[in-house]
Amino acid sequence: MIKIENLTKKFGSQIILNNLNLNIQDGQKVLIMGQNGAGKSTLMKAILGELICDSGSILIDNINPIIDRKNALRYLSFVPQTPPPLKLSVAQLCEYSISSTQTDLNNIINYLKELDLSYEKEHKKPFYKLSGGMKQKVLIALALARDSKTILFDEPTANLDPQAREKFINILKSKFQSHTLIFISHRVSEVQGIVNRVIEMDLGNIIKDSEV
Ligand SMILES: Nc1ncnc2c1ncn2[C@@H]1O[C@H](COP(=O)(O)OP(=O)(O)O)[C@@H](O)[C@H]1O
Ligand SMILES: [Mg+2]
Repeated sequence: MIKIENLTKKFGSQIILNNLNLNIQDGQKVLIMGQNGAGKSTLMKAILGELICDSGSILIDNINPIIDRKNALRYLSFVPQTPPPLKLSVAQLCEYSISSTQTDLNNIINYLKELDLSYEKEHKKPFYKLSGGMKQKVLIALALARDSKTILFDEPTANLDPQAREKFINILKSKFQSHTLIFISHRVSEVQGIVNRVIEMDLGNIIKDSEV
């Protein structure tokens, strides 16, 4: 369970997260929407322990991700909005993920195949030289292959072609029914049939929170 209480984050004098309260129960499928700049990615980074907030608290299964990041992230995977500009090859990136998270390479290769990306063909390429959509496929496959209890997706399909988008959604529908899934997306239609809760953010506030 993710428990967020009175969370405030400022950048300079700008309030980005405004005394936010949010609980996400195990197994929930949550869509977080909101205009550009609403604070969605900042909230994700805070959950991942990448950001120190000004006040309030976040607990992931009772673990504070800032104090004990390693344990908090043990059951959490993340697909970032902006792929990092890694010089590692696809194979090296997979190796890194395998060594740090005990992922199985075959699992990664199978998810890549399901998303129409051939590991065989692409594994020697530096990650940063892949197209935007290919990077997203690699990051999605790495996150899915970890099979962690909770997966956060920050606009994961923004660069995917329609076929890959459909395949990604079908994988989630068929294999991730019991996981906690949190999506940031502008495309409600695409996650319809998966999400059971829709949260809308505006200027660092949750302005709508409804079950669907
Ligand atoms: N590292 C940062 N330094 C300063 N301002 C930031 C930083 N990260 C985000 N912001 C600002 O916080 C606001 C919310 O950003 P973000 O959470 O990325 O929005 P969203 O993901 O909802 O589009 C924006 O105004 C953005 O400019
Ligand atoms: Mg964002």
